[in-house]
Amino acid sequence: MEKENILVIGGTGKTGRRIVARLEALGHNIRIGSRSATPIFDWHKPENWDATLAGMDKVYITYQPDLAVPGALESIEQLVKVSKRANVKKLVLLSGKGEREAQLCEQVVIHSGLDYTIVRASWFNQNFSENFLLEPIFDGLVALPQAEAQIPWVDTDDIAEVATKALTEDIHNGQIYELTGQRTLTFKDAVAEIAKASNRDIAFVPISVKEYGDGMRKTGLHEDFIWLIEYLFTEVLGNPELAEVSHDIEKILGRKPIDFSEYAAATAETGIWNKKIAKV
Ligand SMILES: NC(=O)c1ccc[n+]([C@@H]2O[C@H](COP(=O)([O-])OP(=O)(O)OC[C@H]3O[C@@H](n4cnc5c(N)ncnc54)[C@H](OP(=O)(O)O)[C@@H]3O)[C@@H](O)[C@H]2O)c1
Repeated sequence: MEKENILVIGGTGKTGRRIVARLEALGHNIRIGSRSATPIFDWHKPENWDATLAGMDKVYITYQPDLAVPGALESIEQLVKVSKRANVKKLVLLSGKGEREAQLCEQVVIHSGLDYTIVRASWFNQNFSENFLLEPIFDGLVALPQAEAQIPWVDTDDIAEVATKALTEDIHNGQIYELTGQRTLTFKDAVAEIAKASNRDIAFVPISVKEYGDGMRKTGLHEDFIWLIEYLFTEVLGNPELAEVSHDIEKILGRKPIDFSEYAAATAETGIWNKKIAKV
C-alpha cells in the first residue's frame, strides 16, 4: 500500500487518537491538527492553515466544538479552499446524525470537487468516559433532559475503524455512512448498564432542558457551551432520525458494532468510573 501523508484534525481527541494509532500501524505519515501541535492548527486561526495542510494527501476533519455552532459552515468552506490550494486529494468529515446544521457542512465537503467520505455518527459511548457525562457517573447521580430519547450509541473504536478505511480505501469515496450501534438505549438504560458493569449505585433523574441549562449556569460554564448543550438536547435528541439504527458499520467492517454493554464492561475494567476525575 502506498504510504500517504494524512492530517488528522483533532488527532488527540476521542476519535482522532484512535485513527492516528490505526494509520500509524499501517505505516502512513501522520500530522496531528490541534492547538498544541506543530505546525499549530486552530479553528480560530485560519491564517495558519496553509502551513498545516502543506504536503498533505488526505485530511480527517473533526470540527470543534460542534458543526452546529455559528461559524462552523464558514470554517469548513475555508478549510476546503485551503485543502484544494494544498492539492489535498481526499477529505473525511466526522458529522453528527440527526444534526441538520452539520448536514449543511457535509454539503460543502460533498461539493468540494475532492474525493470525500462523510462519517455521520450517532452519540458516542465514550461521552460517559471521556467527555461531559464522566463526572456525573463518578458522582453517582446523572440528571439529564430527554430521558425518553432512544439513542443508538456508537463506539469511537468503531468510528475510528470506519474512518481509517475511508481514509485509506478508494471504495469509500463519495459515500455517506451513518454509524450507530445495533440497538437504542435511553440515558437511563445506559446509566443502568454502567452501574451494573462497575458494580455501583448510580441514580438517574429526568430533568427539563431549562433545569439542565440553569444548573450549568450556576457552575459558571460559558454561555456558548450551554447554548450548544441545550441545542444538542433539544434539536438533536428531539430529532426522530437520530433514533434510527443503521447497519453501515456491519456492511463496512463485516462484523456487528461494539455493543454498549461490551463498552461498559471494558471501560469498567479500566477503573475509570471508580476514581475521581477533576475535570474532563
Ligand atoms: N460526542 C458525541 O457524541 C458526538 C457525536 C457525533 C458527532 N460528534 C462530533 O465529533 C466532533 C468531535 O470529535 P472528537 O470527539 O473525536 O474530538 P474531541 O475529543 O472533542 O476533540 C479534541 C481534539 O480537538 C482538538 N481541538 C480542540 N479545540 C480545537 C480548536 N479550537 N482548534 C483545533 N483543534 C482543537 C484537541 O486538541 P487541542 O486541545 O490540542 O487543540 C483534540 O485533539 C465534533 O464535531 C462533534 O460534533 C460528537
